[in-house]
Amino acid sequence: MPKKTSSSRRVLVTGGAGFIGSHTVDQLLAENVDVLVVDNLATGRIENLDAACTSPSFRFEQIDVTHSGTLSRILEAFQPHAIIHLAALVSVQESIENPALNFKRNVLATQTIIDAAQRGMVENIVFASSAAIYGDNPELPLQESAKKQPLSPYGGAKLASEALLLAAANTYKLKVTANRYFNVYGPRQDPKSPYSGVMSIFLDRFAQGVAPIVFGDGQQTRDFINVQDVARMNVLATKSNQSGFNAVNVCTGKSTSLLDILDELRLHFPDAPETVFKEARTGDIIHSLGCPNSARELLDFTASISLREGLAQYLQSTTRSSALLR
Ligand SMILES: NC(=O)c1ccc[n+]([C@@H]2O[C@H](COP(=O)([O-])OP(=O)(O)OC[C@H]3O[C@@H](n4cnc5c(N)ncnc54)[C@H](O)[C@@H]3O)[C@@H](O)[C@H]2O)c1
Repeated sequence: MPKKTSSSRRVLVTGGAGFIGSHTVDQLLAENVDVLVVDNLATGRIENLDAACTSPSFRFEQIDVTHSGTLSRILEAFQPHAIIHLAALVSVQESIENPALNFKRNVLATQTIIDAAQRGMVENIVFASSAAIYGDNPELPLQESAKKQPLSPYGGAKLASEALLLAAANTYKLKVTANRYFNVYGPRQDPKSPYSGVMSIFLDRFAQGVAPIVFGDGQQTRDFINVQDVARMNVLATKSNQSGFNAVNVCTGKSTSLLDILDELRLHFPDAPETVFKEARTGDIIHSLGCPNSARELLDFTASISLREGLAQYLQSTTRSSALLR
């Protein structure tokens, strides 16, 4: 267990070996926070925590967050001031095929975290929610108050978790920030995963000299946010003084089409093969865009990394680690 000092802040990160989690851990450690990661390594990778493992303020426990007894014992020993709850079943497709597992990992897990938090000295809970709770909603840019119409058990579970956290904030006087991430991209996103972000899949194909595949005409748009910005927002939220429950979009407010991304990537891979267009997939959302104002007003958060800069950094890091060239 990282050594406790009276002045050090302690943060528990569930799912800390994953894509967003590991960047969040790196930023917490850079702020001299004591960090404990719990992760069952279902989709996360211990290599994502290579840098963190060199810090004396870091500790890792391979456990499932739904194991309430083990989690409670760990929390009692560590006494975190804040919990960043990122552990989840992250595949929309898997949530459709196995809704019971989705319920366990995405709803029951949230309740387990709440139960453990309210028994300890936790002040802030930061929850990884998702733009998936809005579904295919034409009221763009999406405000937090927009109608919630999730299109999958995954989106439904994120919404249900928000409801449980709202009740917990009111019942136990916890401060809760539900960060509704839009499309997150950046290093350590696994392109081999069947549910990975489009950015890592395109990048992987370009790096291998294989044609990128676009379903539909490529005019569909997303609000892409760099993982470093997302991690910064997670860290900010652990220090929030806002009382009760607050849900905020974590987005840039900028719309980018798949064709725009391909154009940007072709600057780095001028000899890449032509794009292959296939029939649009049923159920795909055409446009998604968030309104970033609440995050700025409540937590002084504005995404600072442009897509061009973020992609260039992403490319640099992948050529260094050659993770995309396996
Ligand atoms: N990546 C995105 O664009 C995006 C968008 C919206 C929301 N989110 C949410 O952000 C969070 C992090 O996502 P990510 O993209 O980093 O995915 P990820 O798969 O890289 O990270 C999830 C981590 O949780 C761990 N985990 C899963 N179930 C667990 C359990 N029961 N007990 C302990 N650990 C468990 C996995 O091993 C993994 O390390 C998730 O809650 C996801 O739903 C991500």
